[in-house]
Amino acid sequence: MSETIQPKATIVIFGATGDLANRKLYPSIYRLYKSGKLDENFAVIGLARRGWDNDIIRENVEKSIQGLVTEDEDVSAFTSHFYYRPFDVTSADSYNDLKNMVESLEKDYQTDGNRLFYLAMAPDFFGTIANELKNHGLKDTPGWTRLVIEKPFGHDLPSAKKLNKELQAAFNEDQIYRIDHYLGKEMVQNIEVIRFANGIFEHLWNNQFINNIQVTSSETLGVEERAHYYDTSGATRDMIQNHMLQMVALLAMEPPINLSTEEIRSEKIKVLRALRAVKEDKVDEYFVRGQYGAGTIDGKEVVGYQDEVEALKGSETETFVAGKLVIDNYRWAGVPFYIRTGKRMKEKSTKIVVEFKDIPMNLYHRKDALRNPNLLVINIQPNEGITLHLNAKKTGNGNLTEPIQLAYHQDAQSGINTPEAYEKLLYDSMLGDATNFTHWDEVALSWEFVDRILASWAHEKPDFPNYESGSMGPKAADELLAKDGFRWWPE
Ligand code: BG6
Repeated sequence: MSETIQPKATIVIFGATGDLANRKLYPSIYRLYKSGKLDENFAVIGLARRGWDNDIIRENVEKSIQGLVTEDEDVSAFTSHFYYRPFDVTSADSYNDLKNMVESLEKDYQTDGNRLFYLAMAPDFFGTIANELKNHGLKDTPGWTRLVIEKPFGHDLPSAKKLNKELQAAFNEDQIYRIDHYLGKEMVQNIEVIRFANGIFEHLWNNQFINNIQVTSSETLGVEERAHYYDTSGATRDMIQNHMLQMVALLAMEPPINLSTEEIRSEKIKVLRALRAVKEDKVDEYFVRGQYGAGTIDGKEVVGYQDEVEALKGSETETFVAGKLVIDNYRWAGVPFYIRTGKRMKEKSTKIVVEFKDIPMNLYHRKDALRNPNLLVINIQPNEGITLHLNAKKTGNGNLTEPIQLAYHQDAQSGINTPEAYEKLLYDSMLGDATNFTHWDEVALSWEFVDRILASWAHEKPDFPNYESGSMGPKAADELLAKDGFRWWPE
C-alpha cells in the first residue's frame, strides 16, 4: 500500500461562520484528520465579520462534526487546531493582523510556511481579497500559497473575465483552484476510469454505436433561504455552466495521453471548444426552460417558486433547464447529448445514461412496443454505481426476450462511506493536484456557451410557472427528445 501523504498547511477560511464552512468544510477537515490524511501539522484560521473568538469557532466546529464522532471521543484534540478572527476584507489592519497570526501559527504547527486561502463567501470580494493578500505580504513565505475559490465564478463571460484578471494580478493560474464540487464526486471521477479502463465501453464510445447520452441532475429542494442569490442566477448559471458541462466534457473527451492535470484539462477544453454554439434565434429548438409551480413532494404540499418569498413574485428566473448539446467533432458528429436539471423535481438524483444503438436486425419478438436498447447508467448520487441494461431470454419456451440489469453499487461493495467531494478536493488542493478543479479556459468557454442562451431568453417573457413541483419538469423537455425519436430514460 502506498504511504498516505500528510500535507502540512495553514488553512485560512474566509466566510468561516457561513453555511458552506459548517456543512462541508469543517466535516471534511475532520474526516481528513480521522483518516490520517492530515496529521498534527495543520492549523485553521476562520475569518468573517462576526465577533466570534477561538472558543466559539471550536464549539461550532464540534457541532458541525457531531454526526461523525464516536461517543467517547475527545474532539478537542481536533478542534484545538481552529482559530478565529473577526475580519473586515477592506481593512489593512485585518490583513496585517492575519499575517502575524499566520506566521505565529506556522511556528507552532510546523507547517513549512504552506498557506491555503479558501474563499467560501459571497463572490463580491474575491478580487479584493486576492489583491490584499498579496499586498500585505501574505504570499511571502518559503512554502506554497494557493487560493481556493467557490462558485459562482462570475455572472457571465465579461464579469468572469474581470474577476479572473483581478485574481491573476495576485496569483498565478497554477495557484488558483476553482471549485466545482461535482468534480470531487466519486462517480464523476469514475467516468474516466469506466471509459478508459474498459475496452468494452471505450471501443463503442462514439457515433457508430451510441444513439445519445443523457445527463440528469434533479433536486427535490426548492430555493430555501438562497432565494436572493438564486433569483439572480437561475438553473443555467447555477448548474449548467459548471457541473453539467463538466460532466459532459468528461463523457465526451478523448483519452488523454496520460493522467496529468494538463493533459486531462486540455482534452476537456477541446470538448468545450467543439460544443456547437446555439444561435440566438434557434435557442428554443435546443433548450427548454422552466419554473416550478405548486405541487407535492414526498407527500408534502409545496408552494411554487414565486410564492416562496415576496421578492420572487413575478420572477422570470428559470429553476429548470433541459438542453440538447451538439459536439462538432469526429467522434460525436450526430450524437446528441441531452442535459436536464431543476429544483423541486420528483427525486434527488444525478445520473448519466448512455443509450447504445440497436442491433441492425431484431430477430426476437418483443411484447411491448417500447424498444429496450442497451443502456449504461452511471449513478452519481444518491446511490453510487453502474448498471448495464441488456436483453436476455425470457425463461421458458419460445423466443421471447426480457430486459435484465447488471448492477454494481459502489457503496455496497466497498462497505465504507465514500469520501465526500469536498474532502477530496481539499486534500487535492493541499497536495497541489489541480486536476479536479476547473481551468480558466473551461470556465470561459462554458460562459460563452450559456451566455448566448441567456441572452436569447432575456428577450422573451417566459410563460412561468410551467411545471408542477414533484414532476420531472415541463412537457417541452420530453418533446425535446421526442422530436429526435428519443426519450428520457428512467433508472
Ligand atoms: C450547487 C448549487 O452548486 O450545487 C445548488 O448552487 C445545488 O443550487 C447544488 O443544489 C447541488 O449539489 P449536489 O451535490 O447536492 O448535487
